[in-house]
Amino acid sequence: MSAVLSGNAPQPKEKQAVSSFARFTLGSRVTPISVEGYRKLARKRLPGMVWAYVDGGADGQVTLADNRNGFQKWRLRQRSLTGISKPVLATRMAGVDVSLPIALAPTGLCGLTRWNGDWAAARAAESAGTRHVLSTGSSWTLEEVAGRTEKDHWYQLYPFGNRAKVGELMQRAEDAGFTALFVTVDVPVRGNREGERETGMGVPLTFTPANVLDAAMRPRWVYELFRHQRAVAIQYAQAGAVGVRAAVMAASEQDRYMQGDLSWDDLMWMRQRWKGKLYVKGVLDAEDAARCVDEIGADGVVVSNHGARQLDHALGSIDALPAIVERIGGRGEVYLDGGVRRGTDVIIALALGAKGVFVGRPYLYGLAVDGERGARNVLDILRDDMVRALILMGCPDVKSLDRSWLIPASSATT
Ligand SMILES: Cc1cc2nc3c(=O)[nH]c(=O)nc-3n(C[C@H](O)[C@H](O)[C@H](O)COP(=O)(O)O)c2cc1C
Repeated sequence: MSAVLSGNAPQPKEKQAVSSFARFTLGSRVTPISVEGYRKLARKRLPGMVWAYVDGGADGQVTLADNRNGFQKWRLRQRSLTGISKPVLATRMAGVDVSLPIALAPTGLCGLTRWNGDWAAARAAESAGTRHVLSTGSSWTLEEVAGRTEKDHWYQLYPFGNRAKVGELMQRAEDAGFTALFVTVDVPVRGNREGERETGMGVPLTFTPANVLDAAMRPRWVYELFRHQRAVAIQYAQAGAVGVRAAVMAASEQDRYMQGDLSWDDLMWMRQRWKGKLYVKGVLDAEDAARCVDEIGADGVVVSNHGARQLDHALGSIDALPAIVERIGGRGEVYLDGGVRRGTDVIIALALGAKGVFVGRPYLYGLAVDGERGARNVLDILRDDMVRALILMGCPDVKSLDRSWLIPASSATT
């Protein structure tokens, strides 16, 4: 339960007296209270090669830094004596009501972070009143995740050149009850993530005495990996393949499908086939965003640089957002991901015109530390942050956030 919200709930008097003085826990450490706290613990829980995969960015990681630094360019307006104590976070994202404007971004190979990663994340999102986007590169199949969750979730599609494979995945997503499709367009070729390559986390995996020893020092992680064999991008393998066979198939198929010669025609073909909501993920250019909405008929775009894992020196997501919001001008929904680590980041994105945001690494840190509960706690931390900040700002409702709530940091500090 969130601290701010539970803080409002009346507690029995005796308990309150004790808990305000001290609290005892059998765990070896206090539960993290920030996304960064989860990040630090996750770093210790995961083998170095997996950590490089989860946390790293492309090339010199310039865009990775920009994804965070972009938020520093804004300050929040603070209105006093407004009497606002219960700001409303509920909104709509991709056609469904959500309890907060934050959903979980698709992350491939989620089973490397936690054996049950994909459905643990989907369940965490569900219990927090929001949704998860299942990756094409997920470790559990569409049907398995649908069978372990209650709500309609969303599916992320890589638009391979192979239309037969794409059509098959779209059909399976529809049959399994996924209501929105997020077509990722920023991976015509894999980004150069040097941390992964240096630690052996490539296709094929390279095992060295150093990375084997490093993994062996995390026996629980190794045990779960071998017990459940869910480290692969299962959707790339043929139905029914499991374990090592699935891994080998997935690796070779994935590279065969990933092609750089995709066009707007391919996107149009997908739009015509998919009856539900369709969003284009990985858009940083205002012209492209307008084309997605006006020409293709997409319901909206996700302003994203793939967590700075693809083109280095691409614009930071939050820096790219204003021009796209302006160009689309209400004709489609605009979402953002990349670098969101605090509730105030979400508030800034919304004030700049995003309808909601997605987080990627934050929930992976949560999964690595404490599975479904960790991912849920990360969402609760962000929710608490938002409630607290909106009260302090005197803002009643996330839907009323606009540019009037922002002050450029440059003008604030000069
Ligand atoms: C480990 C990892 C795997 C990812 N896999 C995918 C994927 O399979 N498909 C996709 O569209 N985006 C993928 N992404 C990008 C995320 O969906 C999202 O754009 C990004 O993580 C947002 O940035 P953040 O991590 O700073 O929140 C991945 C990101 C990470 C960190």
